[in-house]
Amino acid sequence: MDEVRERMLEMIDEAESSGQPMSWFEDLYRHSNRDRGQIPWDWEGPHPFLIEWSNENEALGRRVLVVGSGLGEDASFLWKRGWKVTAFDISEEAVEWARHLHQETDIDWMVGDLLSPEPGWICKYDLVVEVHILQAIPEEFRKRAYPNLASMLARGGTLICIGKLADESNIGDSGPPWPLTWDFINQADEWLEEVEKHSAIIPEKEGERYRAVWKRAG
Ligand SMILES: C[S@@+](CC[C@H](N)C(=O)[O-])C[C@H]1O[C@@H](n2cnc3c(N)ncnc32)[C@H](O)[C@@H]1O
Repeated sequence: MDEVRERMLEMIDEAESSGQPMSWFEDLYRHSNRDRGQIPWDWEGPHPFLIEWSNENEALGRRVLVVGSGLGEDASFLWKRGWKVTAFDISEEAVEWARHLHQETDIDWMVGDLLSPEPGWICKYDLVVEVHILQAIPEEFRKRAYPNLASMLARGGTLICIGKLADESNIGDSGPPWPLTWDFINQADEWLEEVEKHSAIIPEKEGERYRAVWKRAG
């Protein structure tokens, strides 16, 4: 196991023992001293599946909410493509770091928790994007968090979820991340209309990845 992952697992244990199981995200960002090499999920650019989707879907100045925005690469990419962007993360340090990295934008960066979204976000966004968030939080929280993504869509709005797909080789892995099964991902079918389910291997990235896209009725 590499040093970065070992340290992350120690922080997760400490956070669980302190009764605040999500606090390790903030600990990890702070202890990195703004060295991106210490952030295990940082791809230093937008997710290729988001780029692909965006190539076929115009922004037209509409509003997007980027959930668990981390260091802000997906948010910044969408802003450059013409979206009006709000981005939030549970970690205050991640939000401040992302704000600093993407100073040229007018993204509305916020600290927030997907488990209790701000009332002002409900039914507001034409697009809600989550990249590698559901898979980063333990199942008990993930089940509560998932319906909240759909609740933030305006009528006719689109939800995009991108993550790592569970398969026989990784299904028993101790996370994070916890790759997700199609059974879990497909629960959004209860609230939204399916637009796309796509999966593929991304060169130089481990495992199969998915992009699932839904629409709220207009
Ligand atoms: C695996 S990282 C992915 C970050 C970013 N989306 C990316 O792809 O680089 C998960 C992110 O979700 C944030 N996060 C975890 N739980 C959250 C919650 N309940 N609400 C908002 N953000 C959360 C973490 O702080 C972290 O930045």
